[in-house]
Amino acid sequence: MIEQVIQWKGAGNTRIPYALYVDGQTGALEQERIFRGEVWNYLCLAAELPEAGSYRTSFAGETPVVVVRDSDDEIYAFENRCAHRGALIALEKSGKADNFQCVYHAWSYNRQGDLTGVAFEKGVKGQGGMPEHFCKKEHGPRKLRVATFCGLVFGSFSEDVPDIEDYLGAEICERIERVLHKPVEVIGRFTQALPNNWKLYMENVKDSYHASLLHMFFTTFELNRLSQKGGVIVDETGGHHVSFSVIDPGAKDDTYKDQAIRSDNEQYRLRDPSVLSGFKEHDDGVTLQILSVFPGFVLQQIQNCLAVRQVLPKGIHRTELNWTYIGYADDTAEQRKVRLKQANLVGPAGFISMEDGAVGGFVQRGIAGATDMEAVVEMGGDHSGSSEGRATETSVRGFWKVYRQHMGQTQEDKA
Ligand code: FES
Ligand SMILES: [Fe+2]
Repeated sequence: MIEQVIQWKGAGNTRIPYALYVDGQTGALEQERIFRGEVWNYLCLAAELPEAGSYRTSFAGETPVVVVRDSDDEIYAFENRCAHRGALIALEKSGKADNFQCVYHAWSYNRQGDLTGVAFEKGVKGQGGMPEHFCKKEHGPRKLRVATFCGLVFGSFSEDVPDIEDYLGAEICERIERVLHKPVEVIGRFTQALPNNWKLYMENVKDSYHASLLHMFFTTFELNRLSQKGGVIVDETGGHHVSFSVIDPGAKDDTYKDQAIRSDNEQYRLRDPSVLSGFKEHDDGVTLQILSVFPGFVLQQIQNCLAVRQVLPKGIHRTELNWTYIGYADDTAEQRKVRLKQANLVGPAGFISMEDGAVGGFVQRGIAGATDMEAVVEMGGDHSGSSEGRATETSVRGFWKVYRQHMGQTQEDKA
């Protein structure tokens, strides 16, 4: 049994103990209570498993997982851990397989994760072999429940987690459908190593306050300013969010300049502004929609650049961020070109998002030695509901609301 040492103080979810980003026990407990608990972990895209036998190796938190389509066209997921001595069953990122054979001692598994073969089970010439009573059915990697929504494949170790639509809620479902309403294709990938705890990245994604302040590109080129039309939706649990805005040159004002905010900087101009020219594809005029699903999934529409991101903890101080860029299967060649060009805005070295890859590390370094102190998350008050303005940290508080529920760190306990 892992013991909790973190003490929450203060009102609501406006004070976040820094210890949560550095404490190893917290990290271990998160694996058990969150990633292997009652959540849906994003695993991959259904489009990445086009035919029977297509598989990908993925993760539910730190737990390695194989996701595979079988000949019944269903998608199955099981722990990527051999039932013999625990080696990875599948080593490649993706591939096609009739079955899987562990490299270590050649135990084999079908596409649904059942142990089907033990090398030399009956021994050799009457010598060795497994005991009579060894039953292959009783051994095998743990299996995950699998759910797909709009081509997103999720897995859960929990029997009690609600169905995916209920887990997401109507508003989030609608906002996912808005982007993933027709078949997609993968058009690129990056894996980015972040020098910080995974929660710092999820907070950053949910933090609509920082976007136009940290990212000079956003503000200088008018892609996102807090004065533009937009809002934040937080679902009832607090764990999922959508932040959206509409590019509106009329919303240019002097509020950034008046406060001498670094990100509004007219010195900078683009030699080739074509990276910003796109095409209209949504009637609602929303040019930026960032959506997150607890614990570690992000769906992004920045103009015509569409991507999914998977946020994976790798120990308490490290995070792996997997970016998968997508286009629609029926894109014209011209549309595809625009999407790829706009991909320069995001990713590890993206004009916009490169700062997000660094700022989590700035926090991780800044809080060393302050494990008895807390972050202040009070912009926009202390609630964690939806908000019309974006000068708020409401969805960050929402993250902590659901986090504390899963972790058993509810306010009542601390009264
Ligand atoms: S560890 Fe897989 S067969 Fe031995
Ligand atoms: Fe950002």
